Amino acid sequence: MEKTFLMVKPDGVQRGLIGEVVNRFEKKGFKLSAAKLMVISEDLAKQHYGEHAERPFFGELVDFITSGPVFAMIWEGEDVVKTARHMMGSTKPSEAALGTIRGDLGLTVGKNIIHGSDSLESAGREIELFFGSSTEISYDKPVEQWIY
Ligand code: PPS
Repeated sequence: MEKTFLMVKPDGVQRGLIGEVVNRFEKKGFKLSAAKLMVISEDLAKQHYGEHAERPFFGELVDFITSGPVFAMIWEGEDVVKTARHMMGSTKPSEAALGTIRGDLGLTVGKNIIHGSDSLESAGREIELFFGSSTEISYDKPVEQWIY
C-alpha cells in the first residue's frame, strides 16, 4: 500500500493540534504505521528542506521547524500522498479551502501546522530520512475490508 510522510509542525504541537490532525487521517480511513515526537536538528532540517535552500525564507523555515517538538508520522493507504495533500489544503492558509487542515486551523504560511510529502518520491526520501527502516509497524486492520 502507498505510504506518505506527514508531520505536525512546532506550531501545531504547541497549539494542541496533534490529536485533531491524527483524527482526520484516521477517520478518512488511512492507517498509521509509525509516529514519534521529536526535535529536528539543524542538519536534518537542512536535508529535509534542501530543495528550498535558495529561497529567501529558507533560514526562517529551518529556524521555525527546529524551534520545538514536531510529531512525525508515516501513514498508509490508497492514494495517500495525493489525498493527504488535499486534506492539508494549500500551503498558504489564506488560499486553503475550508474543510482542510490549513483552511480550518491556520492563518499564516510560516506557521501552517502540517507538512506532507508532495510526491511518492519525496515520501520515500522523507520516510527514510526521519524513520530509516526500523521503527515502522506492520499490522492488520480488519475494518479495511469496509474501506477498500
Ligand atoms: S510546497 O508545499 O512545496 O508547494 O510549498 P512552497 O511554497 O514551495 O513552500 C515550501 C515550504 O516552505 C514553507 N514556506 C515558508 N516558510 C516560511 N516563510 C515563508 N514565507 C514560506 N513560504 C513557504 C512552506 O510552508 C513549505 O513547507 P512545508 O513543510 O513543505 O509545507
